[in-house]
Amino acid sequence: MVIHIRRGWELPESAATPEHFVLGRRKAALGLGSILAAGTLAPRAWAQDAAPMAATPSPRFVADRALTAEKEATSYNNYYEFSTGKSVASAAQRFAQRPWTVKLDGMVEKPLELGLDDLLKQVSLEERVLRHRCVEAWAMTVPWTGFPMAALLKLAAPLSSAKYVVFETAADRSTMPGLRQSWYPWPYKEGCTIAEAGNELCFMAVGLYGKPVPPQNGGPIRVLFPWKYGFKSGKAITRITFTDQRPVSFWEKLQASEYGFWANVNPQVPHPRWSQASERLLGSNEQVPTRLFNGYADFVAGLYTDVKGENLYL
Ligand code: MTE
Repeated sequence: MVIHIRRGWELPESAATPEHFVLGRRKAALGLGSILAAGTLAPRAWAQDAAPMAATPSPRFVADRALTAEKEATSYNNYYEFSTGKSVASAAQRFAQRPWTVKLDGMVEKPLELGLDDLLKQVSLEERVLRHRCVEAWAMTVPWTGFPMAALLKLAAPLSSAKYVVFETAADRSTMPGLRQSWYPWPYKEGCTIAEAGNELCFMAVGLYGKPVPPQNGGPIRVLFPWKYGFKSGKAITRITFTDQRPVSFWEKLQASEYGFWANVNPQVPHPRWSQASERLLGSNEQVPTRLFNGYADFVAGLYTDVKGENLYL
């Protein structure tokens, strides 16, 4: 007999993003698109593609928090390739979003190198409202459009010997001044286990607020691990490699005692230099309690039951 226990995210249809909100957002997107087309706002790279993006809102991913204002989420960013400060939006507009190729390689049956638009023809897009928790103890709740990472696993067919996935992100010297800081181990890379990549919560985002992800938020394509600290969610993904070797990521190379491989959100495990018990909501500055796995334990806690002797929360 199958006993169905309702999980946190299994909300009734009525609790999903209200239609008027979604439609309102689409209309807003249309409006912005025409302003951009008229050339009055940000320049080319992102503006060309800022058309609204059609995707079905997923009732499985509704956040129990107010949405962060778009202006806040797109103007307070971490993107070290541009700057160590938070105001990268303006500089990032020069970073071209097309042409864009994503390579899937390593221990796979079907290595692939595909233009992003061709890749998007092979997946179904959905919209998910997800919480994002930065290791610096700020958080946002935003609507992403994209597809589960599991769809890419299906396309590339990793060999059974592949245990890890490495996400490599763009390093464009002509537009990213941060790359001149040679003490950082560029390109920015992040990694996870195959099981984490195949979890339904691991998401490849190409849209934000119903429009293409703006460059400062990781356009044209980024990975999202909503249950991990934000640094795991690499921006501007160019290559995804399957391997049997556990990768050492950008932040782990810099400071392994503070930014580990797992980096799952846990309010009870402080960062060596500050508490992780609560988080500041972008925009409102309200302080709210942090939750284990950023509130997504129902999805992901099972991934870690057999992992022993590791610090899962750093
Ligand atoms: N990806 C790249 N390539 N470079 C970065 O500096 N910063 C990370 C992550 N992905 C980063 C990155 C960090 S620390 C966070 S908190 C999130 O992106 C921030 O995403 P946001 O700017 O969309 O909020």
